[in-house]
Amino acid sequence: MNAHADGAASAAAPYYLPTGDEVEVFEQCHAQGLAVMLKGPTGCGKTRFVEYMAWRLKRPLITISCHDDLSASDLIGRFLIKNDGTVWQDGPLTRAVRDGALCYLDEVVEARQDTVVVLHPLTDHRRLLPIDKTGEVLEAAPGFGLVVSYNPGYQRMLKDLKPSTRQRFVALDFDFPAPEVEARIVAQEGAIAEPDARALVQLATRLRALRDRGLAEVPSTRLLVAAAQLSARGVELRRACLHAIVAPLSDEASLVAAMRDLVDATFV
Ligand SMILES: Nc1ncnc2c1ncn2[C@@H]1O[C@H](COP(=O)(O)OP(=O)(O)O)[C@@H](O)[C@H]1O
Ligand SMILES: [Mg+2]
Repeated sequence: MNAHADGAASAAAPYYLPTGDEVEVFEQCHAQGLAVMLKGPTGCGKTRFVEYMAWRLKRPLITISCHDDLSASDLIGRFLIKNDGTVWQDGPLTRAVRDGALCYLDEVVEARQDTVVVLHPLTDHRRLLPIDKTGEVLEAAPGFGLVVSYNPGYQRMLKDLKPSTRQRFVALDFDFPAPEVEARIVAQEGAIAEPDARALVQLATRLRALRDRGLAEVPSTRLLVAAAQLSARGVELRRACLHAIVAPLSDEASLVAAMRDLVDATFV
């Protein structure tokens, strides 16, 4: 289990460049106590957005990375055995409910359905968290917000959210930002010059078109930032792209060759 709490309202704002009306809609959801689902491919800014919103709303952020053996107790808590008996220990979801934090469940479809069901009462009007093992029923503290993320392309037919779960969230669609926005992000995050950032985005646009030719994972903003960071540290930009973008995306010789050609065409 991988949960961590970041202090409330830390000094510096996380860098986040909005790509649409997501900031405004999220704020409205938070004010109304509506749960939010962030949909979109990996590496397109979902986590950064939540970090930014937690800062903006001055709420602590508790992040939970979901995986297939995440249990309801991992979220809610459990009795721990101590020398003189047992003590109850809150799980991360319970802490968020008590503290009025934002609780972010990353890649929620990875969690088992019987774990996800635990979230349902929190998305109801009254926003409750029943703790069966202690008999407590917690009402979410003001400021509590439930956020989940999920990558629709990724989910093989088998793994999907139940309709009864989906309907409990307001969904925000994320995608790779428009080229000029993405170039600004890459320049800022990678600390490279704008023309180099624009070239990286141009390369990404070309590589993303390879999806039709069988490239299952196309380059995300995260990979462009990684290439930019290598280049900022002195690695030649073309080589940085081979290491940070081409090599991670595929092992298949023909696709790698096609990607290398596009790198060469971009950095002549
Ligand atoms: N809109 C954005 N504003 C600022 N940085 C962004 C944005 N979108 C993507 N990034 C950059 O891309 C990286 C990956 O984004 P992240 O939020 O981790 O993706 P996701 O959670 O969707 O997989 C971030 O660390 C950041 O450098
Ligand atoms: Mg993420």
